[in-house]
Amino acid sequence: MARAAATKEPEFKADPDSAEPLYLQLAGHIERSIRSGRIPLDTRLPSERLYAQQLGLSRTTVTAAYQELMALGLVRGHVGRGTVVIADEADAAAGGAVAWPQLASRLARAAPAASQEPAPGVVSLGNGWLHPSLVPAAALAACAAKVLQSTECVTRAAPLHGLPALRAALAGCLRADGVKAAAEELLITGGAQQGLNVVARSLVSPGDAVVCESPTWHGAFAAFRAAGAEVAGVAMDREGPLPAALEDALIRLRPKFVYLIPSFQCPSGRLMSLPRRRAILDLCARFRTPILESHVYAEAHFGAPLPSLKSLDSAGIVILQGSASKLLGPALRLGWLLPPAPALPLLAATKAGLDLSTPLLNQAILARFLAEGGQTRHLPAFRRALQARRDALLAALARHCPELRCLAPQGGIYVWAQLPRPLAAQELEAAALRHGVAVKAGDAFLPEGGASGHIRLCYAAPEAGEIETGAQRLGRALRELLQQQRAAPVAADLAPV
Ligand SMILES: Cc1ncc(COP(=O)(O)O)c(C=O)c1O
Repeated sequence: MARAAATKEPEFKADPDSAEPLYLQLAGHIERSIRSGRIPLDTRLPSERLYAQQLGLSRTTVTAAYQELMALGLVRGHVGRGTVVIADEADAAAGGAVAWPQLASRLARAAPAASQEPAPGVVSLGNGWLHPSLVPAAALAACAAKVLQSTECVTRAAPLHGLPALRAALAGCLRADGVKAAAEELLITGGAQQGLNVVARSLVSPGDAVVCESPTWHGAFAAFRAAGAEVAGVAMDREGPLPAALEDALIRLRPKFVYLIPSFQCPSGRLMSLPRRRAILDLCARFRTPILESHVYAEAHFGAPLPSLKSLDSAGIVILQGSASKLLGPALRLGWLLPPAPALPLLAATKAGLDLSTPLLNQAILARFLAEGGQTRHLPAFRRALQARRDALLAALARHCPELRCLAPQGGIYVWAQLPRPLAAQELEAAALRHGVAVKAGDAFLPEGGASGHIRLCYAAPEAGEIETGAQRLGRALRELLQQQRAAPVAADLAPV
């Protein structure tokens, strides 16, 4: 779904002495904001009724102003979806044949960063990658060496659905976790990220709705939007997405699918409770709405794991997706989809359209690693190391950042920290970086945009010994901002647009 209009815009003030009609004054005001980039592409302007109320103008004036903007090619009106800022043809012509930067800005807002390396000296709590010490590097390298003893992996492409040996090994891992899975039911993907794109492109036509938790993995809603979806977020409590809010979204939006991360959610670290899992599953089954269930963090549990939605699914609606990135490291770029059997041909055809097949060499390395029991040996130590890092981060935050409120995640790699009001997450992200620690502002994870009042901290990414320093630096940044704010009272929020 398009973002609601930003709130930092100067307020519209009508000029009573101007000969220009009121609607043109208003249209000019919005036009300047769009052209200056203060209102970014894809922003949904306030509804005519609401905006008229806010400005104390008649609805006819606002309607006429929006029509003027449409005539200028700055916005597009959708019945039921409001008025949305689109690429400006005039600017495109001025800047060259195609407005590449403008087009890029549409996705850049939510797209995952391609390069994740922090600058030297900066403690990395911002990225969702594993520190190399958490990766079973020697075992993977040994598997790679063995695989390369034959030339097979460098002379041919893998079958579309994936290397049979890898599908068999992954199905075995899933069965050990209580998920009924056969090798032939799995589709290997280029990371979980490709799986998100495959599902979205398979199920979504432009303008269709997709519903997800809010906050959620921003790479997911970027992928859904790239397929033309209008993405709507559902609020969560400690147990997961609120069933009443989800039901409301299912009724109003009739989404093509619901995307959920039940275990150690990104970015909130939350574990969806078992009753909530059952409730959500029942709800989606009642509305015959598929669920795309992300399993990418589920194996990184510190206590007894909960059953996946997929293993509880008797209606055949859950597509389960996983990844090697968060357990074994991101280098292999391998993930998988386990859809209900009738959905597999559709997803495979979409995957074929994207890349024909996933690199065989990487698949052969992972297949060998799994078949030799590499994952079974790796996981216990991996979980202990992650848990120690979580404890170190929480203790360091209690010492250096007592202003932050956080829950202890029961697995995964993230702490979701609530900021004291009225601190803005993006300001803290920038201040923290100046102090030498990278953190991620929670705003990036809100599908509907806006201010989250949280930051995401990844305890898997830094050197273990740097967690304390990172928290110390974050504490300094936090107090610097709080002092600045006490010195200068915060300006009241300005009206939209
Ligand atoms: C929930 C979720 N899904 C998918 C991804 C991307 O995974 P992959 O590296 O397997 O493409 C991420 C990365 O952070 C994630 O958090």
